[in-house]
Amino acid sequence: MQFTNTKDYALQLDREDPLKGCRDQFIVPREEGREQIYFLGNSLGLQPRNARAEIDAILQQWSDYGVEGFFRGKTPWMDYHDQLTKPLSVIVGCKPQEISVMNQLTVNLHLMMVSFYRPAGKKIKILCEAKAFPSDQYMFETHVKHHGYNPDNVLIEVKPRDGEQLLRKEDILSAIETHQEELALVLLGGLNYYSGQVLDMETITRAAHAAGIKVGFDLAHAAGNIPLSLHDWDIDFACWCSYKYLNAGPGAMGAVFIHERFHQDPEIHRFAGWWGYQKDKRFKMEKGFLPIGTAEGWQISTPSLFLYATQKAALEVVENAGWEQILQKQKKLTAYLWLMLDDLNAALPEERKIRIITPRNEQERGCQVSLLFPENGRAIFEFLGKNGIMTDWREPNVIRMAPVPLYNRYTEIWTMKECLQKMLAI
Ligand SMILES: Cc1ncc(COP(=O)(O)O)c(C=O)c1O
Repeated sequence: MQFTNTKDYALQLDREDPLKGCRDQFIVPREEGREQIYFLGNSLGLQPRNARAEIDAILQQWSDYGVEGFFRGKTPWMDYHDQLTKPLSVIVGCKPQEISVMNQLTVNLHLMMVSFYRPAGKKIKILCEAKAFPSDQYMFETHVKHHGYNPDNVLIEVKPRDGEQLLRKEDILSAIETHQEELALVLLGGLNYYSGQVLDMETITRAAHAAGIKVGFDLAHAAGNIPLSLHDWDIDFACWCSYKYLNAGPGAMGAVFIHERFHQDPEIHRFAGWWGYQKDKRFKMEKGFLPIGTAEGWQISTPSLFLYATQKAALEVVENAGWEQILQKQKKLTAYLWLMLDDLNAALPEERKIRIITPRNEQERGCQVSLLFPENGRAIFEFLGKNGIMTDWREPNVIRMAPVPLYNRYTEIWTMKECLQKMLAI
């Protein structure tokens, strides 16, 4: 992509943006009368304007029908789930019946471990990433202890080589090969929360399957951000949250992908509840668990309709914009951000250059860019904040920013660059 480095050009890109109307469908927080430049879609996506109406519709149905709302009204609550899985299946690349929207991400990771981590004989180990998101680390630690193992003996952590920030694919593949006799599971972050690196999930899955090992991914930072083909890549399971790039609100319901080959596998273990019971027989209240024959068979409890509602609202915005269009803009917007960063760096002496940890190759990254500052990182982060540019800070010296295609503009990136330029005195 060829960009010109002027403000007029940024304005032109905004004018020509086929998704420019989408921003108005979100509520952008304001500070001192000005809209924030919100680059925190990797943390909590903004509120879609239609979320309130969707919540109101649940309240209305509740007031109109009471418990009968599960079976009556415009959208009976019993079938509400189907309205989420259809648009989600386009975003994550699978069949609607391979998705179950339920619980929260870490809870779902535990539930997937119940089904897919079945240590036996010598095969008791798990390949994961060093410094995985803390919740995943605690999940691994406690889950493994629950099986009676010492995490130090069971968890094999792949890490970047000395002096490097990113995982090398060959190191992951070689760890799978080296430990294949002992591995029961490979469970990695598909897009690393710190570096923004996307893993080659298809190749990793193929290598693990060749050695008879199950494979899952935490897609918290990938779902709604990058193209995924979970079904075709043959991944066994994946979990994600919906409050980042899926804009479903704080504490929104998470979701799981479970490959269809497991749906009716009588050997698969799970922790069950009545919401995963076959719908036509659920209210017979009989003994003996009969799961729904899709990923919905992993549901446990009555879902929160209010959380379904915000997710439905957010997915409608994606459907109207078109997932392919969103991905196109994601590429262009991020490429533009890189141009601005390169431009800044070109003016800085070697020792003050900003180190971009995130891979440059567009196949290996999404919206997020992680910047390592050799000095004054914290002060720079605060300066951006004072100027209404919202990014996030990760110790020891990293600013993460994620311009997202649905509501960010090229001119916001331009403004951020001007602000950094001022701060860095270049
Ligand atoms: C990669 C990753 N895994 C797990 C979590 C935890 O998610 P939850 O609090 O929804 O369980 C997060 C939260 O941001 C995350 O980024």
